[in-house]
Order: sequence, then C-alpha cells, then structure tokens
Amino acid sequence: MADASLLQELRGVRSATPSVWFMRQAGRSLPEYRALREGTTMLDSCVRPDMAAEITVQPVRRHRVDAGIFFSDIVVPARQAGLGVEIRPGVGPVFDHPVRTAADIDALPVLGDDYEAALDPIREAVRLTVAELGTTPLIGFAGAPFTVASYMVEGGPSRDHLRTRALMRSDPEAWSRLAAWVAELSGRFLRAQVLAGASAVQLFDSWVGALGEEQYRTHVQPHSAAALARVADLPVPRIHFGVGASHLLTPMLEAGATAMGVDHRMRLDRALEILPEGTPVQGNIDPAVLFTSEQARFAEARSVLEAGATASGHVVNLGHGVAPDTDPQVLTDLVSFLHEQDVRPA
Ligand code: CP3
Repeated sequence: MADASLLQELRGVRSATPSVWFMRQAGRSLPEYRALREGTTMLDSCVRPDMAAEITVQPVRRHRVDAGIFFSDIVVPARQAGLGVEIRPGVGPVFDHPVRTAADIDALPVLGDDYEAALDPIREAVRLTVAELGTTPLIGFAGAPFTVASYMVEGGPSRDHLRTRALMRSDPEAWSRLAAWVAELSGRFLRAQVLAGASAVQLFDSWVGALGEEQYRTHVQPHSAAALARVADLPVPRIHFGVGASHLLTPMLEAGATAMGVDHRMRLDRALEILPEGTPVQGNIDPAVLFTSEQARFAEARSVLEAGATASGHVVNLGHGVAPDTDPQVLTDLVSFLHEQDVRPA
C-alpha cells in the first residue's frame, strides 16, 4: 500500500494537495473530548487505552486532518517511571518533588523492566488507535530532554526556566545525568509507540527557545540526539519542533531529525534559506488567526502554502498548539480550505 501523502511530504515527496494536522488537535476545543474526559484525570485518561485511542481519533473524524497525534502528554513517561506528577487544569504539569540537586538526580528511578512494562497501556492504546485510523497515519511523540527536565527542575511551568538554566551552568555534570535520564525515558516512549504502529514521530522541545545556540549545542543537543537515536533504526520520519526556536533550527535538525517544525515567528521561506537544501518542513499558521475572520484565516493559510512552496516536503500545521477556546468549526473549515488548494508548481 502506498504511504499516505503526509508521510510522503515528510520524506520529501510533494503532493498536489496539502497535508495538514494540528498540534493539540485533540483536547479541550472538542465537546466530545470534554464529555469523554468527564470524571477522569488527564493523566489517567492517557493510560486507559480505549480512552486514549478514542480521544486521538476524535479530531481526525471531525476535522478530516491527515494524521492523528497520539493522545498523551510529555510527562506521561515520567509518571509511568514512578514519579509523582499531575496535570493541573489551566496550569500544566506539576511534580510532587522538584529535581534540583545532584542527590535528587541520583535518586531518580532506574529505567528497567518495570518501566518497559509500564509502557504496555501506551502500546495497547497505539494499537487500538492505528486499527481505528485505517489509512490515516498516527504520529507518535515525546517531550525533548530540555523541556521535560525543565518541568522536573522547576516543579511546574516556568516563564524563563531560570533554575534549569542555572543548573546547566553551575553543575553541568549533574545536568547531563538528568538530561540523559530524560533522553532514555522519552526515547523509549517514542520507540514503544513506533513498534506498536506509529508511522512518524515528533520530538517536542517546546521551551528550548529560552537557550542560546551555544548552550543548546553544549548542554542539550547531545541528549535530544540520544532520544531521537532510539528510533533512528526504524523507517519513520522524525520531526523536531520548538517554540521561539528559529535560531536553533540547524542544531535541532543536526540532533538527528529528518524534518523540522517551524513556529509562526519565522516564515517558512526564511527557514528554508537557513536549513540544508532538501529539509522537509512543518508549519506554521499563526494560531491567533483562528480568532479572526475567515478571510484573514484563509489568507494566512495561502501565505503559508506559498512560503512552503519550494520545500522538498511541507506538512501544514499551526505555529503552536490549538488553544482550548478555539471554535472547532474554524479548524474543520480550515482543513477543507487547505484540501481544496492545488500546490503543484506552476
Ligand atoms: O493533539 C493533542 O492533543 C496531542 C496530545 C498532547 C497533549 N500534550 C495533550 C494535553 C501533546 C502532543 C502534548 C504535548 C505537551 N504537553 C507539550 C508539548 C507541546 C506544546 O504544546 O508545546 C507540553 C509543553 C505539554 C505540557 C502540558 N500539558 C501543558 C502546558 C498543558 C496545558 C495545561 C492547561 O490546562 O493549560 C498540558 C495538559 C494537556 N496535555 C492537555 C492536553 C489535551 C489539557 C488537559 C485537559 O484537558 O485538562
């Protein structure tokens, strides 16, 4: 069977019709999600295979996007490894015990057979999802070492990630052990999803834009590379994405990605000038246009298609995730609009 065109784009083979999915397409913008989640915590819903599968499929059914993104969270692996963590609505992930000292890092659980077994519900959820999706590909994902470690060090969401960046500079050896632990945690989570049937992966380094290039290359890139290396022997495209990370596009690609996610702060044609020729890109409709007129939304969509026209492959996405108060009909209409466009070179 031929690969779905979204996977082809990620491999550098263009189609006449754009392929599209949205980061955070599942979740609170959908009434059917809110109904299903009623009475179950976010993290519990991630380890109930039937629920995780159904939530993953909901936006594909409704919006006709060209891929599902596995319903989970970047902190699910930490929880399956035994750390105390919850997701507070309106706040984000919060850890019971922040990991701040060398002693805290030494006390992290060993990632042995217990961790492998704790990933069973994830494998089961992926299998159920893939069966339900049919020919629509499933994208697996994980959080990158910097972003996940930042939640662990800060204890919760943070604006400037000061404690994390200070640890990196004051005790680079301890930082390196923490980042290596997260790389194994996230890398094995990615691998479990691919072996269970996911056809592509995305590594989210959402907050890495807080770092300069030198800090990134020294303290983060080797660990992101270790996470991606865990799936490098498998035949799936590897997308790497960060927010406000336009200055890190090249080092993030060099961490072992095969395609780059670009946020809405940089036009795709500019990103393509920076990246090596032939790099497939993903992005980058500004999520703010979802709250404007249809005319403005379609104009932005067309502008993104134009900016990506010379790429070897382009998967349309938002520049960051769908906000919870987005009108779902706006997303459905945007997908139909994109699917009516012809992007064959003139
Ligand atoms: O499309 C999808 O919904 C896929 C599943 C997905 C979730 N989180 C579900 C989720 C994915 C890919 C993520 C990744 C994630 N989680 C990232 C990286 C992507 C990004 O947005 O930059 C980050 C930084 C997190 C951490 C996190 N988890 C935050 C900041 C929040 C929001 C907290 C809030 O309430 O504002 C979460 C919770 C979360 N993850 C929700 C969902 C659907 C909302 C939970 C709810 O329904 O209450």
